[in-house]
Amino acid sequence: MKNLPFSKDYINGFAKKFGLDDLGKATIREIVGMVNFIQEDSGVPFFRMEMGVPGLNPPEVGINAEIDALKRGVASDYPMVDGIKPLKEEASKFIKNFINTDIRSESCIPTVGSMQGGYASFLMCGNIDPKKDTALFIDPGFPVQKQQFKVLNQKYESFDVYNFRGKKLRDKLETYLKNGNINSIIYSNPNNPTWVCLTDEELQIIGELANKYDVIVIEDLAYFAMDFRVDMSKPGEPPYQPSVSKYTDNYILLISSSKAFSYAGQRLAVTAISDKLFHRKYGPLRERFGADEFGYTFVLRSIYSLSSGVSHSAQYALAAMFKAANEGKFNFVKSVREYGERAAIMKNMFTDAGFTIVYDTDIDKPIADGFYFTISYPGMSGGELLEALIQVGISAIALDNTGSTRSEGLRACVSQIGLDKMDALQERVELFKKINRG
Ligand SMILES: Cc1ncc(COP(=O)(O)O)c(C=O)c1O
Repeated sequence: MKNLPFSKDYINGFAKKFGLDDLGKATIREIVGMVNFIQEDSGVPFFRMEMGVPGLNPPEVGINAEIDALKRGVASDYPMVDGIKPLKEEASKFIKNFINTDIRSESCIPTVGSMQGGYASFLMCGNIDPKKDTALFIDPGFPVQKQQFKVLNQKYESFDVYNFRGKKLRDKLETYLKNGNINSIIYSNPNNPTWVCLTDEELQIIGELANKYDVIVIEDLAYFAMDFRVDMSKPGEPPYQPSVSKYTDNYILLISSSKAFSYAGQRLAVTAISDKLFHRKYGPLRERFGADEFGYTFVLRSIYSLSSGVSHSAQYALAAMFKAANEGKFNFVKSVREYGERAAIMKNMFTDAGFTIVYDTDIDKPIADGFYFTISYPGMSGGELLEALIQVGISAIALDNTGSTRSEGLRACVSQIGLDKMDALQERVELFKKINRG
């Protein structure tokens, strides 16, 4: 086993092998691959903060429902492309109970993760109007979605929300929307990578502008109800998950089972399309896909072509988890609250060692403790900081890739650092401090 810290030459050797000239520009999967090699070669286990994999056990209620479904033999049957009835119905109730928004079950479509829900939504939005050929990301964002745009060969623009919070968001959005070429606005809330949570005022601005300029808002709720500053865990009772669906009918919600339900491995999410948008007809959709209704085309052209539906048994799992949550028998928020506890400890650890939280507030409130947080260190770029952390056996990703203008920052994910690992992480952070102080 090698001793820490690793030399810069040692790390650069691996970076070269992976073709990474600048660690600040490396993708999540590239960092994962490189760190796997360093771990194996050095024998030193890393503190892995680079990838957002759920670090908690999947809920029993989901596993049992899936096992039962498999035992009933669903594995041999193709599921309907638009999803099994129990999941569609429970999804609709879940949205009512936890967002207080009405969406009919027909408009709730299971997808192979929110990755597929996003991809299919981007494809649809890019084909509703030839003049509107560009999407707009409120960044920082989840880098793979930009990759999806490359694969789709569709255009996007983006801006970093850092300097445009609150009322300032309206003017900033209008600078893009008034050009007439934007078909959709995309953001995650809570946000990956910064854990910024857009306020109701900001969501109202987005909704009003979506109405004014007739654009579709794709609201990615991958971290549903995980702003732990407020308890959104009680079905049918406020506070609810904030959502643009309060302010416009032009929306698509992406609700993933991966993080809020620790069910990432089964690749299941629900894309919920507003009832009005679901039934809206667009002439250009007919030209491209031979059908003009948005919802119909989403299901029977897009999802049918991509995967012909979603794993049959996993749909029963999510249906059971939604049902238990809807009936107040399963507190899904409580089951992931530990991420917030981890983040609080880790943020203190890093700030005590001289780091700064980059995205530190939601306008006038300190940023919540959740799945991710962002850090920088005085005098270092994101790439340099990442290298310095790798020297002491800690990995993360640079914000550069996420559409952030804060190139000095890194994203740290708490999911793989259990509460039992905090003391050992502290030792590594102390070592970093000793090497880099002054
Ligand atoms: C913002 C965001 N959207 C979508 C996803 C992907 O979700 P899924 O696992 O459901 O495909 C993630 C996963 O990290 C995410 O952070």
